[in-house]
Amino acid sequence: MSNRTHFSSRIGFIAAAAGSAVGLGNIWKFPYETAQNGGGAFFFVYLLCILLVGLPVMIAELTLGRHAQANPWGAYHKIGGSSWAWVGGLGVICGIMILSFYNVVAGWSFGYFLQIGFGDLLAAGDHKAYFGEFTKNILPIMLYALLFMGLTTYVVGRGVKKGLERAATTLMPVLLVLLLGLIAYALTLENAWDGVAYYLSFHPEKLNLSVINSAMGHAFFSLSLGMGGLITYGSYLNKKENLVRSATVVTLADTGVAFLAGLLMLPLVFTLGQDPGMSGPGLAFVTLPSIFASIGPVAGKIVGAGFFLLLTLAALTSTISLLETPVAYLIDEKKWSRNRAVVSMGLLIFGLGIPTLLSYGAVPSLGNISYAGGTHTFLDLVADIFSEAALPFGGLMLSLFVVYRWKMAGFESEIQEGFAGYKDHWISIYVNLSLRYLAPIFLGLIFLSNILEKFFNIHLF
Ligand code: PHE
Repeated sequence: MSNRTHFSSRIGFIAAAAGSAVGLGNIWKFPYETAQNGGGAFFFVYLLCILLVGLPVMIAELTLGRHAQANPWGAYHKIGGSSWAWVGGLGVICGIMILSFYNVVAGWSFGYFLQIGFGDLLAAGDHKAYFGEFTKNILPIMLYALLFMGLTTYVVGRGVKKGLERAATTLMPVLLVLLLGLIAYALTLENAWDGVAYYLSFHPEKLNLSVINSAMGHAFFSLSLGMGGLITYGSYLNKKENLVRSATVVTLADTGVAFLAGLLMLPLVFTLGQDPGMSGPGLAFVTLPSIFASIGPVAGKIVGAGFFLLLTLAALTSTISLLETPVAYLIDEKKWSRNRAVVSMGLLIFGLGIPTLLSYGAVPSLGNISYAGGTHTFLDLVADIFSEAALPFGGLMLSLFVVYRWKMAGFESEIQEGFAGYKDHWISIYVNLSLRYLAPIFLGLIFLSNILEKFFNIHLF
């Protein structure tokens, strides 16, 4: 076996992978997507997407990583040669670009945490105007983003065991306690249970192909799939690990937290009788602060600071995995030291994030980019390319790679290590069916429809 560092315990790995999965997507996006698109019916579709495509692709990423003991580029290269290595390379680039905008939003969350907890943000009368001013004010938001990147860099710089693993095993329990505490409080607010009822009410009539498309896309993003973050994490696993079981636990944790986040957001939103459809940055940074302000100066401060701390921590365990991926590439392939890789990548990605940072008011032209028949921010542009389009593409290529290049026999032998009897188990039939048919078909369709929709304004569904 290689002398590559490995996670020291199963629980450490699971915390780190679940930390990667649980992020802004779960807390900020999932609740309103669900509420808006059919409640319980949407959740049911979301679960199907996870079962039919998400979980098998997660198993495939972890398996490829553990087998190759390498970063995504190296993993594809080892098995598929130079004609496949670019797929892994694209994943590394996605990690870089997704982190460039994710870090900006994480920085806002961090800033809101500080300004609610230690400043008087909640006293501002107009939270929409406040957010507008906040994102226009270059120096502070740059500082927040830099601090956040510094935090991520610090953790990744300490390596797999002392960095990724220790941060996740400390932060994930804190995150869970915070989330549960906030839910318990939110459920005592006026109209809270109307919010819960709205969240879970079953509206199958709201489902259509476009809703299913976004459920699948979100499931993929939420599980951190398609860019090779979990190939990288899989490369730090030893042969004793049961990959199917680990992937299942990580998937359940991610889905569980997303579900719980809805039990927090909808009661909050209903307390003020807000429009539950309120989406995008507006929900977290405009609607919620006005709700926190309305529940009283002390309680509002505690709950508001608690909420943005939750968002910040969730983001941090995700940014760690986004940074680790290109760092692992530089260490494995370019033989850089971890410190050199971490510092250069951290700075590069912070720099690449500057146009995004400026795209919410500081530099109007960056918030006003025209394509596909609409105007978008620079953040939208980067997210459309590297998350909406490239992640499903990465998942599509991964399933094709496993089935046609690596081949099922080799893939299954790798899973068999740590899961004796896998080849004869029904689970192998399920994973096989998914990687051979369901994943390529669904992910191919989503990739195509997202490209057409995001860049050509052609709506396939
Ligand atoms: N899964 C994270 C979230 O839900 C985002 C993410 C995507 C992290 C891809 C790593 C890789 O916010």
